Amino acid sequence: MGLSTGVVRASILRLAHHRSVRSLVTGTRPGRAVATRFVAGETLADAMSVARDLSDVGLLSMLNLLGEDVEEPEQALRVRESYLSALDASAAAPDIDPAVSVKLTQLGLDDSIEACWANLRPIVVSAEDRGSLLMIDMESHRYVDATLELAARAHAAYPRVGVAIQAALRRSETDVFALAPGTRIRLVKGAYLEPEDVAFTTKREVDANFSRLFATVFARGHPVDVATHDPKLIEGVRARVDGVEGGWGRVEFQMLYGVRRDLQSQLAGRDLPVRVYIPYGTEWYPYLTRRLAERPANVWFFVSNLVRTSR
Ligand code: FDA
Repeated sequence: MGLSTGVVRASILRLAHHRSVRSLVTGTRPGRAVATRFVAGETLADAMSVARDLSDVGLLSMLNLLGEDVEEPEQALRVRESYLSALDASAAAPDIDPAVSVKLTQLGLDDSIEACWANLRPIVVSAEDRGSLLMIDMESHRYVDATLELAARAHAAYPRVGVAIQAALRRSETDVFALAPGTRIRLVKGAYLEPEDVAFTTKREVDANFSRLFATVFARGHPVDVATHDPKLIEGVRARVDGVEGGWGRVEFQMLYGVRRDLQSQLAGRDLPVRVYIPYGTEWYPYLTRRLAERPANVWFFVSNLVRTSR
């Protein structure tokens, strides 16, 4: 993000917190129409159907049940059951074999690390039983310590558990050295509004850190998911990995459902591994606001739809 893009993004994210804006988006047809561009649907069956369509055109997939900041222990338990169902569905479809990605604040992290572990552990055990790839999303900076601690525990129990690392956060360049050897890393720019003392604020700095982090973790032998739609970063990674024998055995591109579909199929058409992150569920509002804030043109699309349908 340039400086002004950063300001627009911050304003959209702040505005999105207002209750009236939320009900305008979630309670109107244009709001829900914009959501369908980025969200597979409300059910696991919707997500699996998208995964199957993607598989038909050579794309891998990763399921993510939407939701975050779950406060009630019973709610976290329900989320845990939903993730176990997602792993069951994945195991029942070995031809598409979707990975599953979890957010720890859905699983009780705001309660305590131990409460979250009590919910995460059965998910890890189930992923191991099924041989599935399990990833842990990274949320805002105040959750990084706890997320890394739980990712380390989960990885020690089952090596096919990986974690997201955000290039926007200044601390990430140190954090990657503390990860256990072989931990799978999903490298992302970072989707959260963060204070300047913990995060880079310009696109130039974030992109430069993304490239540096990729070089570091790739050289250290980690499997790396390059999760971005940024053509320049993708091309830089491609050129670097091409020059390393066996490099493509541990690098994969990842993009979000509904974003840069053209680029997804272009890369897959060149026989490069591409996995699509498929969000589903009823709690889509916070996820949608982050997608809208990344690209203000998406907001104009929503507003013009709203104006058109209210005439
Ligand atoms: P950037 O925002 O610079 O966009 C590059 C180009 O991509 C744009 O010019 C545009 O063409 C296109 N684009 C990007 N976003 C778009 C949008 N919403 N609509 C339309 N076009 C768009 N974040 C996080 O904090 N924790 C996490 O765990 C994850 N997990 C994750 C998984 C996967 C698979 C992906 C792809 C991303 C994440 N993210 C994430 C989100 C990530 O941090 C980041 O916010 C988005 O990927 C957008 O940044 P880009 O890297 O695409 O670059």
